[in-house]
Amino acid sequence: MAAAEKEEISVEDEDVDKKIFKDCRKIAFYRRQKQWLSKKSTYRTSLDSVTTSSTSAKFKITNEETEVPLLAEVYGIEGNIFRLKINEKAPLKPRLTSCSEDIGSLLLANGTGDLKCRILADPFQIDLVSEEEVVMSINSRGQLYFEHLQIPLKQSRLTKENEADAAVGTSQENQDDLGLWEEKFGKFVDIKANGPTSIGLDFSLHGFEHLYGIPQHAESHQLKNTGNESAYRLYNLDVYGYKLHDKLGLYGSVPYLMAHKRGRTLGIFWLNASETLVEINTEEAVEPMPPQMGPVAAEQKVKIRTDVHWMSESGIIDVFLLTGPTPTDVFKQYSYLTGTQAIPPLFSLGYHQCRWNYEDEQDVASVDAGFDEHDIPYDVMWLDIEHTRGKRYFTWDKKRFPNPKRMQELLRSKKRKLVVISDPHIKIDPDYSVYAEAKEQGFFVRNHEGRDFEGICWPGLSSYLDFTNPKVREWYSSLFAFSAYQGSTDILYIWNDMNEPSVFRGPELTMHKNAIHHGNWEHRELHNIYGLYQQMATAEGLIQRSNGKERPFVLTRSFFAGSQKYGAVWTGDNRAEWSYLKITIPMLLTLSITGISFCGADVGGFIGNPRAELLVRWYQAGAYQPFFRGHATQNTKRREPWLFGKKYTQLIREAIRERYALLPYLYSLFYHTHVASKPIMRPLWVEFPDELETFSVEDEYMLGSALLVHPVTEPKATVVDVLLPGSTEVWYDSKTFVVWEGAHTMKIPVALDTIPVFQRGGSVVPVKTTIRKSTGYMTDSPYGLRVALSAEGSASGELYLDDGHSFQYLHQKQFLHRKFSFRSGILINSCADERGHYPSKCVVEQILILGLKKQPSSVTTHSSDSSDQPVKFMYCAKTSALKLERLSLNISADWEVHIT
Ligand code: NOJ
Repeated sequence: MAAAEKEEISVEDEDVDKKIFKDCRKIAFYRRQKQWLSKKSTYRTSLDSVTTSSTSAKFKITNEETEVPLLAEVYGIEGNIFRLKINEKAPLKPRLTSCSEDIGSLLLANGTGDLKCRILADPFQIDLVSEEEVVMSINSRGQLYFEHLQIPLKQSRLTKENEADAAVGTSQENQDDLGLWEEKFGKFVDIKANGPTSIGLDFSLHGFEHLYGIPQHAESHQLKNTGNESAYRLYNLDVYGYKLHDKLGLYGSVPYLMAHKRGRTLGIFWLNASETLVEINTEEAVEPMPPQMGPVAAEQKVKIRTDVHWMSESGIIDVFLLTGPTPTDVFKQYSYLTGTQAIPPLFSLGYHQCRWNYEDEQDVASVDAGFDEHDIPYDVMWLDIEHTRGKRYFTWDKKRFPNPKRMQELLRSKKRKLVVISDPHIKIDPDYSVYAEAKEQGFFVRNHEGRDFEGICWPGLSSYLDFTNPKVREWYSSLFAFSAYQGSTDILYIWNDMNEPSVFRGPELTMHKNAIHHGNWEHRELHNIYGLYQQMATAEGLIQRSNGKERPFVLTRSFFAGSQKYGAVWTGDNRAEWSYLKITIPMLLTLSITGISFCGADVGGFIGNPRAELLVRWYQAGAYQPFFRGHATQNTKRREPWLFGKKYTQLIREAIRERYALLPYLYSLFYHTHVASKPIMRPLWVEFPDELETFSVEDEYMLGSALLVHPVTEPKATVVDVLLPGSTEVWYDSKTFVVWEGAHTMKIPVALDTIPVFQRGGSVVPVKTTIRKSTGYMTDSPYGLRVALSAEGSASGELYLDDGHSFQYLHQKQFLHRKFSFRSGILINSCADERGHYPSKCVVEQILILGLKKQPSSVTTHSSDSSDQPVKFMYCAKTSALKLERLSLNISADWEVHIT
């Protein structure tokens, strides 16, 4: 929300939120579904209508009361995915194999998967069955709901189709309450040209009680029971200083959740970009058994079951069931549908310095110099809205930024970059070329009367680009060409903000639902995907300006399923409070498991002034989160890392330097998530899927599979309780090298300089040993390997390396992928992917081996191109740590280190 707007309202925060934003009871389609579903009408499958092909089944389901038929289609998709569509339209290409048919049900299987899909006739229900055990049922709660398009009531006598409405009453009063053709909220009236169009369906997950996903909410990682009167809301909104532990939808939405239990992980991807509500309820239940089980059914057990009820305001039912069985399989299945995380340019994994606003070129130069003076590495300077001429994006404020190119050259001389903001609202000003051109071409979203939609945002009265139109995206992309964007250079990258979209005086601070997009679609149909399209067009623009050579960097506030393909996401306007630091972990974990690995939160908290201790703790946490940017709103005190006194500067410097040391590991994780879909920030349950005690953990997480991070999020902490999972694991404190056995919760003492990070036994973490001004200076810096031995005395790890900025890794296979393994006293560096070639001059100069039980008598290096060399070493019996220093082993060559 706009800070200024909010200041106009002088009541308590909570009341402000209630006035501005809806809870479910204020949402008409929620009330309709609740009321209608309480009447328990059912759908039945017409088995005589079934047609099957090798890959699909199609059949009719009919509502017994309205007699209106729906067409259901079930498809099997490669990789253990089922797709269910229910609508009134023609189907997509099918891929399912019919196994058998019997009376009253139809059984379908999907190639290699262990799950079969059984369709029951009366009432309509679908079960996913694994070895005679029902894993998931669809519509077993009878919540299938489908509002058919109708002739407007004004003109009508009741038609057959609007008997559904008749069932819930057609009095004027009830019409208003149910918001069929008109829905009121405060002073806003939403006129619905298409009438009620909502849909809904329930899914019962048998044996599951741990669910995760459906960002974005300021909520716990594990989804909570909503009861029957609230729901997680997915509706992209600009919520300034959002309330914690709330189900209100924030800036972005991914309508996708994962359910996990020992031995099975599932995903449900509800492909719908209209406003969506999700109810979650876990219950103890009698587990249904397949009918053919006969007398065994008598032995039914009471089991846990979680019901998920999806409701959307419009669209069709189009849902993908990802059947796992492991978390890793589900990540792959989801990315098969929506894409994987793009590999970012390396600089964007460094530290970013932002504030609303860095005032002028001089301010930029002095903040930039401050980092060098205080020996703190950073990569990117950011400019917020005030850098423009009156919030006209793609322009510069001539007074504050008279020579943007010179400013960029200064940054370039330090191998640093600039990010500037570009929002989707365009100031209405015929003399502003971006506006004039878009206006002329008809590139704005229109209002329901067919004129350009107008709303207030930062520049005052604005129109909003219709990014859902491919032509508009193409044109917008072209605005980033160096010739078009005056004052831009190739070190300038982009930040898309306010793209929910935020409309200050609009309903819930966003666009009216009856605004019209390309193809005559109402805004309500696609609200949640608007921001994704802006980021897509921006990323494409940055690629194009480099003739397809350079990777883009685009940060977006609003997002949808698939946004991972276009850049990074952050969690919006948080507060400089401990509770907001703490919630960054679950919020980022949730984004991560729903495909969006490149995510972060404003370090320090956007609103308010953090005290030094909080700021230090936030930097320490942020250093281990994928996107790492300090940001603060207007009217906050300056808080560059050196403004809190020497002690704190030192602590922040240490945290940022540790981030830079870890970049080789982090970059390798980005490669891994790009090709193999596993998130970078991982909830513990993903790495330890059989360890029940990890399923609800959200104050610590794994960074890749090697590091467990437990940021300190309490003031004045002297100790933290850290769960070190896995009964066969050993864990090493990354600073003290103290070793712990897994499957214990340890009380770890902490001082202000402690970042509790533990390296998992059995892993090798590649690091940089020399930290410099920015990532650009570190290309040739030497490497170190941190080897942590498992209980059996072995370890393995990887390093991925390329030029860090182009697409050559893809087109020319210019990359290096190395594998490190340690076994029986020998550390081997070998090639992990023969397809890649990227010779590097870099050497490994340090090797640290943790968990070596006895002092070696000799250490020698062996490689094909030089004779065997003895190596000096230091061994500490107390910590069982062996240190090898001043090595000169080329990172891209095969070699071995023998420890005897
Ligand atoms: C809202 C964003 O969330 C915030 O990060 C930014 O500073 C302001 N808009 C101003 O552009």
